[in-house]
Amino acid sequence: MSSNTTLQERPRVNMFFATALLILVLLCLVCATWLKGKSKDQTLLPPGPPPLPFIGNIHQVKHRELLLSLQQFQEKYGPIFTVYFGSQPSVMLCGYDMVKEALIDHKDVFSGRGRRPLVESVIKGYGIIDSNGERWKQMRRFALTTLRNFGMGKRSIEQRIQEEAQFLVEEFSKTEGKSFDPTFLLGCSISNIICSIVFGKRFSYNDEHFLSLLKNITGALRFMNSGWGMIFYYFHRLLRHLPGPHQKGIRYLTDVKAFVQERVDESLDTLNADSTRHFIDCFLVKMQQDQQNPASEFHNKNLVASSMNLFFAGTETTSTTLRYGFLALLKYPEIQAKIQDEIERVIGDRCPSAEDRTKMPYTEAVIYEIQRFSDIIPTGVPHATTEDVSFRGYTIPKGTEVFPLLTTVLNDPKQFPQPGLFSPDRFLDDKGALKKYAAFMPFSAGRRMCPGEGLARMELFLFLTTILQNFTLTTVVSREDLDLSPECSSAGHLPRCYKMSVVPRH
Ligand code: HEM
Ligand SMILES: *[C@@H]1O[C@H](CO)[C@@H](O)[C@H](O)[C@H]1NC(C)=O
Repeated sequence: MSSNTTLQERPRVNMFFATALLILVLLCLVCATWLKGKSKDQTLLPPGPPPLPFIGNIHQVKHRELLLSLQQFQEKYGPIFTVYFGSQPSVMLCGYDMVKEALIDHKDVFSGRGRRPLVESVIKGYGIIDSNGERWKQMRRFALTTLRNFGMGKRSIEQRIQEEAQFLVEEFSKTEGKSFDPTFLLGCSISNIICSIVFGKRFSYNDEHFLSLLKNITGALRFMNSGWGMIFYYFHRLLRHLPGPHQKGIRYLTDVKAFVQERVDESLDTLNADSTRHFIDCFLVKMQQDQQNPASEFHNKNLVASSMNLFFAGTETTSTTLRYGFLALLKYPEIQAKIQDEIERVIGDRCPSAEDRTKMPYTEAVIYEIQRFSDIIPTGVPHATTEDVSFRGYTIPKGTEVFPLLTTVLNDPKQFPQPGLFSPDRFLDDKGALKKYAAFMPFSAGRRMCPGEGLARMELFLFLTTILQNFTLTTVVSREDLDLSPECSSAGHLPRCYKMSVVPRH
């Protein structure tokens, strides 16, 4: 039945493809003339592979091998180069020195946000991630203070994570030693933390509504990382109003938006300004306080978009990191055993708390190395220049898209010798204390640096310690056969699929 449906859908997609191609060719001619007019600017940009009209360099970049292509350009053109995704130039920054010079030494000019067309078509520049200027400042500041745990009621964020980690332990216990793919359970529990923070409710892992929310979030993310997602990224102006698979991507986002709007309406009905329960409540109170202020960005559209941002930025990232971490611990059982020793020494049988982190440098070093090694957002999130800027002898015009290629920082051999090696010890000094590196930037750096860092770190620590306090992770696969190399999509790194089983320690 279901295979029939897909068969029937194929010709439609193909026809659409043909039409789209035809339009593309026509537009090429128009744009060729237009690009010629623009070539004056191009001479000021960093060098790069010569672009064709309209399509730019996309014929030289395969979607599955985007990172490989970028690496080849880096070898040829150096640590700063320009690639045209379609007719727009994107400046690529490689290695710690270059990324630091832009995001930290020139932090304001490089603080704009580049295009994210799929999201743009649903949340239209509202919220934290896709906004700029004054709106972005207000939204970001608010998210940062709220996530730091002010005014979110009696239960701290730490307690919410501790509670969820215990639920995960329960679910792991139910597997009774059978081997399972941890993706689903980790996804549920990490999403629940965002649910708890944003609208004050956690769901059981078989709640249908919850599962459809997760399905829609991963559906949208999967689309963005797919081949079609890339095509949409290049040609969104053209495709936005045409049929095609991108409409499904947009649909996922629209559904999540409707879901968040419902939670907002519910919260408004039951709001008590003296006892706010969660992020949405805090935002609603701020909206009421700011009612007379015409410059205020606190209104419904920004509330819904900001909440959606937290879901999209805060779920897959953290659960993918954990899943990668578990895989590394399966491959290196001796590292797992050392964490368990540290847990026994510092925590014992009580519930792990955020405070324990300062006393557990080994565990922290492993988490750092998991993040460095897993490198889950290799291209970074696109930035844009807010002004014309002279940089390394080039002139980058205002509004140019800039990619800080985080993978080239986390794997910069000058910063991290033998970057391909999974080695937590690189984060420890000879006294066994945690060693910090400026080049350790899985959360990026500068003005746009991830505002969820504190939350993510707390989650990674509490989940990892709670699980390893209760279980030992094992697998029947021999360690030589466990492959830590990433499964690449166009923009993300994912661990390869694997199964594990958990053996209770008590
Ligand atoms: C391991 C987990 C995470 C990683 C690796 C990660 C990484 C990143 C990166 C690389 C960026 C782009 C920064 C830039 O533009 O240069 C970012 C932005 C962002 N992240 Fe995270 N993140 C994680 C978890 C979270 C969590 C848990 C939340 C929230 C609850 C969150 C919320 C955000 C938001 C709102 C932005 C946009 C910031 C802005 O545009 O000003 N992230 N994150
Ligand atoms: C998820 O998407 C489905 C299908 O589009 C929709 O019926 C459902 O309401 C959505 N759920 C949520 C929570 O967004």
